[in-house]
Amino acid sequence: MVKSERGWWPGLTDLEWIDSIATPPHPELLEMERVARPEGIPILDRDSGRTLAVLAANRRRIVEVGTAIGYSTLWMALAQPAGGTVTTIDPDHARTSRARTFWQRAGIADETITIVNRPALVAFAEQVRELDGPFDLAFIDALKHEYSSYLDALLPRLAPGALVVADNVLWSGRTAGTRPAHPGDGTVELQAFCRRVLGDPTFSATILPIGDGLLVAMVRSDS
Ligand SMILES: C[S@@+](CC[C@H](N)C(=O)[O-])C[C@H]1O[C@@H](n2cnc3c(N)ncnc32)[C@H](O)[C@@H]1O
Repeated sequence: MVKSERGWWPGLTDLEWIDSIATPPHPELLEMERVARPEGIPILDRDSGRTLAVLAANRRRIVEVGTAIGYSTLWMALAQPAGGTVTTIDPDHARTSRARTFWQRAGIADETITIVNRPALVAFAEQVRELDGPFDLAFIDALKHEYSSYLDALLPRLAPGALVVADNVLWSGRTAGTRPAHPGDGTVELQAFCRRVLGDPTFSATILPIGDGLLVAMVRSDS
């Protein structure tokens, strides 16, 4: 049922309709969706996953901050060109070892995805070799108050024309102020991050209001 000006109307929502005509997600993505919700594991919304796959389609070297059980990683790895790689960072060993099992079941070769089991800012500061880059796409989805610091660490590691994508930037309405924020919940830092990227001519950037808000920025090659 969908709500229209005349009341409730039988039919599909826009997102349901898109889902009904699109190629179904890989069975391992569906399995991850099934286990994540009851276990309280935060993963991307499916529409954001589809968008990430489009953005990853011609990106050979991808870096991700925040793996969890590897849902977003798998959307990107399945969409990349042959020979593409993903380096993904998450200090939670239990989650990333489950992620590895899902990727294997999806037929992704182990060497395609490298896991860095450290807090991202520590790994960047320690110049972990796997994070040298250059990367063609960086996906940020970890601690909200650290997004700007992740960007600082990522910028020198990006190739010209690289994409920066970040999830949860609308933070369920708190970033724009349609829902109340609370001290320490990351809202102030997310607002600063969004202002920084959308206001900087180094980037061509916007925020897609899908899922919890997906920021997409291209590092301009003329910058
Ligand atoms: C929102 S989840 C990632 C979801 C994943 N991108 C997906 O859509 O499937 C955030 C993850 O960030 C990880 N995390 C927490 N602190 C971190 C840090 N300092 N550096 C990198 N990852 C961190 C958490 O362990 C958690 O698994």
